[in-house]
Amino acid sequence: MSPVRNRVAVLHGVNMNMLGRRDPAHYGGLTLQELERRVSDFGRELELEVHCAQTDSEAEYVKLLHELPARADGVLLNPGAWTHYSWAIHDALEIAGLPAVEVHLSKVDEREAWRQVSVVRDLVLACVSGQGVEGYREALVRLSKELDG
Ligand code: DQA
Repeated sequence: MSPVRNRVAVLHGVNMNMLGRRDPAHYGGLTLQELERRVSDFGRELELEVHCAQTDSEAEYVKLLHELPARADGVLLNPGAWTHYSWAIHDALEIAGLPAVEVHLSKVDEREAWRQVSVVRDLVLACVSGQGVEGYREALVRLSKELDG
């Protein structure tokens, strides 16, 4: 019997700890803590073990990705603005080598041109954007299917 693969890391990047003070038209009104609680609830419904982390330090985010294979089977990432230009995060995600889903609260593909670029898109199974907190459920479902398969 193959071992259960149900450990999911949820990694939030720069400025995501400012949710609640950011434009609610794009990001909704939840704080990061409230968002993480909802994501953990979605995880429990799907029998996933969810661990959340956030940092404003790109070096720290890269380190979290480097350490990921020891503690997670899959990753759901919302790197915030780093999504659009951090090739360091692209490479660290590639090194991690885990199934990954990208998620954004806002409709990044319909906003400014620079937000329509994602440097991690070639590495992820899917990108869910513009669905607010519900998008995290969809992203976890996608990841869970991959981990079950
Ligand atoms: C975001 C979209 C990014 O463009 C932005 O820089 C963020 C949040 C989102 O969740 O919609 O910080 O990743």
